[in-house]
Parts: sequence; C-alpha cells; structure tokens
Amino acid sequence: MSIILETRNVSKHYGDYRALQEVSLSFREGEVVAIVGPNGAGKTTLVNLLTGLLKPTHGDVLFRGTSIAGVGPVRLAKLGMARAFQLVHIFPELTVSEAIASAVISQQNRNLDFWRNASTIEPVRQRVEEVARIFGLQNRLDWLASYLSQGEKKLLDIASAFALNPQLILLDEPTSGISTSDKRPLMDTLMDAAKKAGIKTMLLVEHDMDLVSEYSTRIIALTEGRVLADLPPKEFFADPHLAAAIVGKPPVELGA
Ligand SMILES: Nc1ncnc2c1ncn2[C@@H]1O[C@H](COP(=O)(O)OP(=O)(O)OP(=O)(O)O)[C@@H](O)[C@H]1O
Ligand SMILES: [Mg+2]
Repeated sequence: MSIILETRNVSKHYGDYRALQEVSLSFREGEVVAIVGPNGAGKTTLVNLLTGLLKPTHGDVLFRGTSIAGVGPVRLAKLGMARAFQLVHIFPELTVSEAIASAVISQQNRNLDFWRNASTIEPVRQRVEEVARIFGLQNRLDWLASYLSQGEKKLLDIASAFALNPQLILLDEPTSGISTSDKRPLMDTLMDAAKKAGIKTMLLVEHDMDLVSEYSTRIIALTEGRVLADLPPKEFFADPHLAAAIVGKPPVELGA
C-alpha cells in the first residue's frame, strides 16, 4: 500500500522547549495507528504538525508527496484530510444541524456565508441527517451545540470531521471526556462510520490501552518528543517495559 502521509526529520520547538525531536514516520493506506505516550510526550504537537496546523521548526510533512507544513485546515480538507480535536472545537451558537452542515458545505467547496441557511438545502439536509444518524445525534439536530453534553459535543466534533468525507482522519483523544462504559460503543461507532465513509486510514491519540490493543493495527509510542516504539499491538504489548513507559502517569479524565 502506498504512503499517504509522512514526516521527515520533523522537530518542533516552543521557544527553547523541544516538544518533538527528529521524528520520521510514514503512514500507509489501511492503517489504524494509535499514538500513545504520557502527558506532554508530544502527541498533540505531532497531530498538529500532521494536519498542517503547526509548522515544523525543522523537517517537512508530506501528504501524498506534497508538503503540507503549516497549510491550515481549509486547504487540508480540500486535500482529503480531516481531524477532530482533543479539546472540543464547536461553535456554541450554531445548532447541531448547522454545525454538521458547515462541514458538509466546506467539503462541497461552497461559500461559507451559506452556513446559516445551508441546513435547509435538501441534499445538504439529507447528508446532515445521515451523518447525525451514524453518530446518534439525530434527535439533537435543532439543539444549540452549547446545550449538548460533553460526550455529545465530542461526537459532534468527530461527526463534523467525518462529514468532510476525508481519505484520512486524525482523532486526538476521541474517547476523552466520555464515561468508561461509553468508550467502546464510541469506538465501534467511529470504526463503523469510517467503514461506511470509505475511510481506510485513521490516526488516533488514545490513552486507554485496552482500546488501543483492540482497535489499532500499529502503535507509535512517544516519550519526551521522540519515538520510543513503532510496533504492531501484539509486539508492543509483549514488552512490559513499553506499556509501563506509556502508562507512567494516568490521564486526567474530564467528565468521566
Ligand atoms: N503552544 C505551546 N507553547 C509552549 N509549550 C507547548 C505548547 N504546546 C505544547 N507545549 C508543550 O509541549 C509539550 C508537548 O505537548 P503536547 O500537547 O504535544 O503533549 P501531549 O502528548 O498531547 O500531552 P497530553 O497527553 O497531555 O495531551 C508539553 O510539555 C507542552 O507543555
Ligand atoms: Mg494532547
């Protein structure tokens, strides 16, 4: 399978602080990659670099061979990549329907001024309902996003990324802020949605090692800004030192 996304010797410094150091990774179509590591390891920084939100201090990031270093989310979505965020990214003044519609429309290359009325355009409305149904938000379409529960906001953010119809999706802690018993159903929903949408490649940051072992095909462990391991789950979990290095500090779970 061909390489879809890669980093070449990427470093990211925040002032004097080296958040990522000389990371070279390539991702192939069909992989479900879990990015793991203790708090502050550089996982979100890596996702921000892979999605063109941050520019590397050194090195380059390539999507299908083209540099996307620092290109930003709009151009990225046009190229076929979408992401959801660790801290939920929604417009609280939009309804659920309007929020999903905005993603559907940006994917259709339409003018963003359309947002408010867009949810009434028939093909858009159909697509919005379809996406909402996949994520169990069909009864929330008219709700203002700000009134959703934390878990529902998370789902809306992920649904909006899926609505962009990407070839590749990156999810930064999709199950954080979700109660333990809801994590597995959310992952099943995600995997199902990806399958239905024809999205074969997924990168996700995840702290829950049970979920990582169950859903990923490859695990990349970061510590202190460097790649500690890059292995299939079976080999990763066969080495107790690796798991210990990752679980070093338990994640803080909001609303769990
Ligand atoms: N904008 C910034 N300015 C300065 N330092 C930053 C900035 N963003 C992140 N850092 C620092 O870089 C390091 C890596 O941060 P990052 O958010 O990538 O970690 P993470 O692995 O996602 O952690 P978590 O599991 O807590 O989400 C941390 O020490 C963090 O404090
Ligand atoms: Mg993070």
